[in-house]
Amino acid sequence: MPKFVVTPWEVRGRVDYEKLIKQFGTRRIDPELLRRLEEHTGKLHMFLRRGIFFSHRDLDWILDRYEAGERFYLYTGRGPSGHTHLGHLIPWMFTRHLQESFGAELYFQMTDDEKFLFRREMSLEEATSFTYENALDVIACGFERGKTFIFSDLDYAKTLYRMAIQVAKHITFSTAKAVFGFTNENNIGTIFFPAVQAAPCFFPSVLKGKNTPCLIPAAIDQDPYWRPSRDVAPKLGFYKPAQIHCKFIPGLGKGGKMSASEPETCIFTTDPPELAAKKIMNAFTGGRGTVREQREKGGEPDVCSVYGYFYFLFEDDDGRLSEIERRCRSGELICGECKAMLAERVKRFLAEHQRRREKARDVVQEFMLRD
Ligand code: TRP
Repeated sequence: MPKFVVTPWEVRGRVDYEKLIKQFGTRRIDPELLRRLEEHTGKLHMFLRRGIFFSHRDLDWILDRYEAGERFYLYTGRGPSGHTHLGHLIPWMFTRHLQESFGAELYFQMTDDEKFLFRREMSLEEATSFTYENALDVIACGFERGKTFIFSDLDYAKTLYRMAIQVAKHITFSTAKAVFGFTNENNIGTIFFPAVQAAPCFFPSVLKGKNTPCLIPAAIDQDPYWRPSRDVAPKLGFYKPAQIHCKFIPGLGKGGKMSASEPETCIFTTDPPELAAKKIMNAFTGGRGTVREQREKGGEPDVCSVYGYFYFLFEDDDGRLSEIERRCRSGELICGECKAMLAERVKRFLAEHQRRREKARDVVQEFMLRD
């Protein structure tokens, strides 16, 4: 049994990201690449400084093109299977940062079809309603109107289908099985779906009638989709899409990533702030059995989900973050106090996000791409 599994449909075990780079054949974001990024973005984003975005394909090439005066565009997406949680926001916030730094357009795919096909219990109506709900969260991240195009696969089917079948024609069933592990039990819609997720890699090239570099920020579990996309690209006369990959944010429980299937260890953007605070107060930490023992031995931030939240999202000042770590290890900072500090920040964050999310209702149609 492998210790961990990462596929677009399942993430299990303690993920060894170094191994994953080897297994997937991607490349680590090295100091040289960070230096180049910094030239264009100013002070490196916290997600890059902390290795939360850690792996890539052809990011150096994207920068070469950019430095030669060629604009690239961004492509990312969401499978609307439920409400958005904090883990989903990480690639979106980073995409927003890239949009701002490079002045890039963004195509954002809502794969309502994917969730319908892959989830037995999901109806089309439900997927459609979460597309709308999730789009509010995307807009709340601050994307620029006029440069950000959100589309539902179901609604944008005419343009999408034309591109998807051109991709599909170049992917054999045997490749699809090797990459995605399809079996005879898969419905045939799921087998076609990878062509649908590949299609937006080439949208601006088609829509603008000019080959345009594409950069995809996404969690590393989506990488299998980009392998056939990259193989097909030159056959259709397009550039291979480049990627920048992030890690998974831990859940509030012991180990594992944040997952909507465990709502008590998962903070949704729609959670009332008080409920989110309660979840944090119940979180797994690296604390000891008693306060006394903790004062003596100190806590263990490496395994602590609360520390994980400061690290991933809620403390962007590196000095203050290492101060939390130091005080925890020395036994000075007790879990209850640390949780209360995080809960305060999360409550503030949610209140602000929810305010923007409500405002997004007025403009959501202006962001939606239609045929
Ligand atoms: N398959 C992704 C999911 O289930 C959604 C998605 C579509 C996506 N296109 C993408 C994610 C591009 C990242 C980048 O969430």
